[in-house]
Amino acid sequence: MNQLDTWLQRAAELVRNAQEIVVFTGAGMSAESGIPTFRDAGGLWEEFPPEQFATFAGLLRTASTRPREFVRFLATALAPIAAAEPHAGYRALVQLEKHSSVTIVTQNIDGLHQEAGSWQVHEIHGSLLEITTRKGQFVKRLTRKELRGIVAALQTALDSSLALPRSLLALRKLIGANVRGIYRPNVVLFGEAMAEPAWSHALAAVRECDLLLIVGTSGEVWPAASLPQEARAHGAPIITIDPDAARGDVVLRGTAATILPRLLSLAGV
Ligand code: OAD
Repeated sequence: MNQLDTWLQRAAELVRNAQEIVVFTGAGMSAESGIPTFRDAGGLWEEFPPEQFATFAGLLRTASTRPREFVRFLATALAPIAAAEPHAGYRALVQLEKHSSVTIVTQNIDGLHQEAGSWQVHEIHGSLLEITTRKGQFVKRLTRKELRGIVAALQTALDSSLALPRSLLALRKLIGANVRGIYRPNVVLFGEAMAEPAWSHALAAVRECDLLLIVGTSGEVWPAASLPQEARAHGAPIITIDPDAARGDVVLRGTAATILPRLLSLAGV
């Protein structure tokens, strides 16, 4: 038996014995659905530095001084999310819900856990598919098909000589103003408060769980990165799934789409 098999057996036993499982996911969970991570080689922040593209002030500045670059960022970031489908790891987590109480806490804004069929999902960095006013009032929910339409229109605009007016038209479903004020996707940018009530629910869930399963996060962004400490402080063991995993009571080095189905089938779910 190699080391991964030994760890998998240990992790499967933890899953079998757990009553309240929290699954905490990051960008690595969606990598095999075709959405690049942020900080791996070739990640989104390599080409588009977060201080220019992931703070509200930075985005406003980029949009006003380099509008074409702003549109190129949106097209690049949105295209893989618009085309994504949940992989086998997502489906394995849906199966797990049939056997244990499972809460998903995700930093991802792509909606793939819900699309796979997971029931209890807290999106602590918000959702790209939910459009709200800046005060958080719900405006509408976008379908992935609508998102694909927006991306196609942005790409056509970028290829044309009328890039800016065409991009503005394409973006109207995503960003704009109506009688209730300015609306935008309900995503948490750097420096903004965590999405509520998702964050409060996430904190409560990790404090009550008896197993935390972490999948595909570098743990570099706070306060999300404090959740494993909360779980540990309340006595929950931690399993980590990540090709670069280093921390956790059980460390499964591998990818979400391969390890999750293996683990959950070993655990008998
Ligand atoms: P990162 O890009 O920081 O980390 C991705 C993690 O996924 C790394 O640990 C990789 O080793 C791992 N990984 C890569 N491929 C994987 C695979 N196929 N299966 C499993 N793991 C894999 O992404 P996050 O930790 O999610 O926030 O980043 C946290 C936050 O930073 C994001 O929510 C976003 C970003 O800035 C905001 O924008 C507010």
